Amino acid sequence: MSFTRSKHLAFIQELDGRIQKLDYWQADYLRMNGIYWALTALLLLRPELDPLSNEFDLSSPLTRTDVLKFVVECQRPEGGFGGNVGHDAHMTFTLSAIQILVMIKGLNDPRIDLDRHIRCTLPAQQSPNHLGIQSRQREDGSFSGDEDGEIDTRFSYCAISALKLLARLDAINLSTAVAFVEKCRNFDGGFGAIPGGESHAGQIFCCVGMLTILNIEIQAADRLSEWLAWRQLPCGGLNGRPEKLEDVCYSWWVLSSMAMLNRLTWIDGEKLKEFILSCQDAVSGGFSDRPDDMADIFHTVFGLAGLALLGFPGLDSVDPKYCMPTRFL
Ligand code: FPP
Ligand code: ZN
Repeated sequence: MSFTRSKHLAFIQELDGRIQKLDYWQADYLRMNGIYWALTALLLLRPELDPLSNEFDLSSPLTRTDVLKFVVECQRPEGGFGGNVGHDAHMTFTLSAIQILVMIKGLNDPRIDLDRHIRCTLPAQQSPNHLGIQSRQREDGSFSGDEDGEIDTRFSYCAISALKLLARLDAINLSTAVAFVEKCRNFDGGFGAIPGGESHAGQIFCCVGMLTILNIEIQAADRLSEWLAWRQLPCGGLNGRPEKLEDVCYSWWVLSSMAMLNRLTWIDGEKLKEFILSCQDAVSGGFSDRPDDMADIFHTVFGLAGLALLGFPGLDSVDPKYCMPTRFL
């Protein structure tokens, strides 16, 4: 199937209206993530597009002013960002908010109080109590997604990626953070969400991503890469764990990990390209998880980012550690 670039651009441009009409209530709580996925997809498809230009406002589902206003309004007084206005903060939304601000060059907006999202201060020192990323780290180095929430290596990644983008890695204990992630390593070479948790390609992206951001060499890289290479199925698509179906989003989680391990060639890129292209909606644009399913922006960004990692012509280069176009890093 040929690459339907203009359809994908139209799919992204109409996204906001489509969300409001079709499945708004489902997407409502993930709006911050949705805007990060849409912006990343748009900027990969348009390597020359400047987010400060009028043209950006015409191609994006939301204008730069509206994106910035939304992010400003999702700041929580106690620190962190919610998935939508008035929603509680969570590490995954905080990372998306910071990635969006990097891409639209909004980090210096006077309405954004970065320190509040980074630091933890006691009520006696400051009111309201500040519960920034720093406060999400536990004694054992792990991170929770929100106050008293679950521990997961996804949140270790979110913390380290966000703090590195802000040049504030000094805010957390890096040696315990690394020690915790190393404890989530399994005998099969992969990583899980917590110590003893099953190896999963999404968690592997998070652990390998975090270690790579910190410039820490990945041990036993061959064993891990073998596990990742086994994710490719005869159809060319990749799954996230043994016995699971192929899915376009794993083109990203697996391939980006392989790129960080410098073993991209361990995957058959041509077969994967064909699989990703077969998941395009040739009529309305966007990509779905598997051929003929309904397209959504989550699978669209990871399909495009996977193609970008494979060097597909006309797409901007993508950074495997951050899942952002390299020109913003
Ligand atoms: C699969 O989830 C994916 C993961 C576990 C990784 C999620 C990564 C983050 C939240 C970090 C931020 C990501 C980026 C790109 C900056 P799933 O629940 O779909 O798994 P399943 O396929 O097993 O259901
Ligand atoms: Zn998926």
